[in-house]
Amino acid sequence: MVSVDLFSDTVTRPTPAMRRAMAGADVGDEQQREDPTVNLLQDMVAELLGKEAALFLPSGTMCNQVAFAVHCRAGDEILLQEQAHPLLFEVGGASAMTGALLRPVIGAGGFFTGEQVRSATRPPVYYMPRTRAVSIEQTSNVIGGVCWPLQQIEDVCRVAHASGLVTHMDGARLLNAVVASGTTARQFAAPFDSVWIDLTKGLGAPVGAVLAGRRDFIEEAWRFKQRFGGAMRQAGIIAAAGVYALRHHIDRLAEDHARARKLAHGLAELSGITLDPTRVETNIVVFDVRNSGLDGESFNARTLASHGVRFSVLGPTAVRAVTHLDITDDGIDRALEAAHAAVSR
Ligand SMILES: Cc1ncc(COP(=O)(O)O)c(C=O)c1O
Repeated sequence: MVSVDLFSDTVTRPTPAMRRAMAGADVGDEQQREDPTVNLLQDMVAELLGKEAALFLPSGTMCNQVAFAVHCRAGDEILLQEQAHPLLFEVGGASAMTGALLRPVIGAGGFFTGEQVRSATRPPVYYMPRTRAVSIEQTSNVIGGVCWPLQQIEDVCRVAHASGLVTHMDGARLLNAVVASGTTARQFAAPFDSVWIDLTKGLGAPVGAVLAGRRDFIEEAWRFKQRFGGAMRQAGIIAAAGVYALRHHIDRLAEDHARARKLAHGLAELSGITLDPTRVETNIVVFDVRNSGLDGESFNARTLASHGVRFSVLGPTAVRAVTHLDITDDGIDRALEAAHAAVSR
């Protein structure tokens, strides 16, 4: 049985107070734009991100796919980091649904530069794909929850706009970056034509994500929400969890970050485990178990069997731990005991 679940921050269960907010939500027909709680959530996110309008969608994946569909035509190219979510985990959605090509840009530590965007942007000749968009993931998930610095974002977006590209932020964990860096959500969002936040990661809501941008962008996004089957009915029941999370669960992300740092420092002391704890900026800890003689799967199987501690396995010997609302200080201690036992056997 899993007792400490570090698999992802998506495993959280709604708190009793969040459930009460959901049960008491005012609702209406969301597809007709008549759900007052969905409308409130959209207004709150537009305000938070400093954008004209926002759109509630069932998932972050749909936010990426709807944004790509609005921005691109078939044959267009989107630049993004080589381990970005749409490249790894969206089943080729950009090509399947929009016909867009995803082109990885390999940058130091997971970040690319404005100069790299300039050189990756194809000349406007009729026999090449049109480079149309650049997408940035804040924080970068598989890289280890690291935050794009604001200056680098501004550099990338300035060059992108000067080259005629549109800019998109996958902000699944943008609020983790906000809490970790002290940079506001508006500052991070300002250079982007489209940006979204997930409600189901650190914020701890059960369903949904919110995409924001200019009013005309969001009007067009509504068309794809409908086309992809993302328009809902009495969705205020789930939007209420998002409203609650935005009011009560942002500042507490600092606790997740502190626990991730504690975990990282503890893991770094174990022989057989390799990681640089100074790279842990938010709630994600990626480490390598190669020197323990174990692969990632057997490390995870051992911690699960002995202590009920679940990690996620990213590669042959790469393992990830994610802290969240349901992880306590005791959970971190138990995870460290489990890791110690696994590599000592
Ligand atoms: C960086 C990033 N983008 C997008 C997504 C997709 O979000 P969702 O699970 O809400 O579809 C995830 C989910 O893990 C993610 O980590």
